[in-house]
Amino acid sequence: MSDEKFDLAVLGAGPGGYVAAIRAAQLGLRVACIDENRQLGGTCLRVGCIPSKALLESSERYAETRHGLAAHGVVVGEVELDLERMMARKNEIVSTLTGGIELLFKKNGVTAIHGRGRIRANGVLEIESDEGCREIHAERILLATGSRPAPLAGVEEDGDLIGNSTAALAWPEVPNKLVVIGAGYIGLELGSVWHRLGAQVVVLEALDHILPGMDNELASLAQRAFKKQGMTFRLGSFVESAKVEQSRCAITLTGGDALEADRVLVATGRVPATAELGLEEVGVELDERGFVRTDSSFQTTVAGIYALGDCIGGAMLAHKASDEGVACAEIIAGGHGHVDYGIIPAIVYTHPEIASVGQTEEQLQEQGIDYRKGVCPYGASGRAHSLGDTDGRVKILADAATDRVMGVHIIGIRAGDMIAEAATAMAFGASSEDIARVVHAHPTLSELVHEAALAVDGRAIHT
Ligand code: NAI
Repeated sequence: MSDEKFDLAVLGAGPGGYVAAIRAAQLGLRVACIDENRQLGGTCLRVGCIPSKALLESSERYAETRHGLAAHGVVVGEVELDLERMMARKNEIVSTLTGGIELLFKKNGVTAIHGRGRIRANGVLEIESDEGCREIHAERILLATGSRPAPLAGVEEDGDLIGNSTAALAWPEVPNKLVVIGAGYIGLELGSVWHRLGAQVVVLEALDHILPGMDNELASLAQRAFKKQGMTFRLGSFVESAKVEQSRCAITLTGGDALEADRVLVATGRVPATAELGLEEVGVELDERGFVRTDSSFQTTVAGIYALGDCIGGAMLAHKASDEGVACAEIIAGGHGHVDYGIIPAIVYTHPEIASVGQTEEQLQEQGIDYRKGVCPYGASGRAHSLGDTDGRVKILADAATDRVMGVHIIGIRAGDMIAEAATAMAFGASSEDIARVVHAHPTLSELVHEAALAVDGRAIHT
């Protein structure tokens, strides 16, 4: 059938795949985007970024209403939790946004195909769904199949009492005691949600610090803040096994220590979703960790087959995948595409928020780069005082010789919004002096970035 022939077939409608499909269609290509889920948007929209942020927002309001309003002179009576409503709100947001992608596909002329796709031969995809099996032909194929939670050896996930992030986004009641395995992004975000809703939360982390890869100073400030809120951390705790025994979860650590909990969240990383795609048969090579090997044009080891996003490795972040989606579509359409991997912001949406772009102090030290550091505490901001949230700091790291900004690390309320200015400045190759010379509106939290830039040169006014 003529309508089964495309210039580009994108496998996966997550933030990498759907963005690539739309951009390619904008550039005049005939595009199909295949996904096995009826709801488009991938992990991010269905069971990742968006639902977790919805629950983070709701749970923060609940916690603030219970504990934080009195200081503002707002007196509330008894506060009740309607978890069912909270979950329904989350689901409504997911439906709205996943439905939005369907509309964007229609508007841009992208053909959405429901089913599980598999490469049969270069240029041929087989798509299986409950409606049967069909075949489509495409001059180019783009793999944007993402990642899935990594199972942990020795841990028997039952998908209910012991589950991954997808399960923890839909638990029907607040556990009395929750054990979180892994103090990375997911463990801290979802651990925070359930802690705010009333669970006693114990986080087990194999390393001697939380948030691997983050600037050490920020990670330890974050841990201190979470501890103050009442979360418990057991660092250097490697989980060897976890299983359900008589409706309770039994967890064992290396060394023999044992714990019990009502529920367990397994948040020990994600692995690429590259199985059963027919890759081996056509000669698409994977690396030793299962990621698809690509060159700088996102082309795999087979000409005409491309890959991007979580399934090729690097930062497993939605915005990295989307940026790659645009670049890859532009390359496929005959243009030029580029992703600046040195300037990908990363944000943990806890309270305080933690946001980072560029190099950490540890990375600069490892490379022997001489740097100057400007720090401004949130307490110096009038806006932070009016918000009632003065815990946190902005740190700017600039090359000692050239003053070029090398990294910006922020912990505190709305850090995730403020990091955008830092990323933009870095993309333009800004020096700390450049940021210091820009007028920042008063009273806003962005003044903290301004002040930290002044502090690099030892001329901060408010600290
Ligand atoms: P992660 O890689 O961030 O953290 C996993 C943690 O588990 C590590 O600290 C590791 O040391 C620990 N661990 C591993 N095995 C263990 C064991 N047996 N016992 C105790 N601890 C153990 O992984 P996470 O949090 O699952 O996130 C997966 C990916 O999803 C990340 O790459 C992240 O970038 C992405 N993500 C991003 C979000 C955001 O942008 N806000 C939110 C959620 C996820």
